[in-house]
Amino acid sequence: MDEATFQRMLDAARAAQANAYAPYSGFRVGAAVLGGSGAVFGGCNVENASYPVSTCAERGAISAAVAAGEKAIVAVLIVGTAADPVPPCGFCRQALSEFGASMQVVLVGEGGVVKERSLADLLPEAFGPSFFAPRRG
Ligand code: THU
Repeated sequence: MDEATFQRMLDAARAAQANAYAPYSGFRVGAAVLGGSGAVFGGCNVENASYPVSTCAERGAISAAVAAGEKAIVAVLIVGTAADPVPPCGFCRQALSEFGASMQVVLVGEGGVVKERSLADLLPEAFGPSFFAPRRG
């Protein structure tokens, strides 16, 4: 992706991260997804006193994109409260894969380290709708 797109995604992810609701772990995460239209959507983790009810930043960003009418996600950028880049959890890898198996994954550490991956690298042999006849939409 070009520098301007990277900056737009980083700004959206950091803005969302500032609003993270993480009173239990104290680990604040922001994500931004780039929709097929070129628009960027942010999300943050939202924890819950009933811990398993918590949602990750990536799935928040996916929800925002889908609610706005996006059908594909081209890239995702993630920032966490850690010096090293934070990779998406297994749940989120599967959730992202629904909207683009080959999407670009950009991981940004607070120390400035940037890692770039493809979702296919992070979730090889993913389960998806091609294995059955889903009702779409
Ligand atoms: N978390 C995310 O939001 N995204 C990730 O990729 C890793 C983990 C959140 C979930 C929980 O609120 C906190 O980080 C600690 O696990």
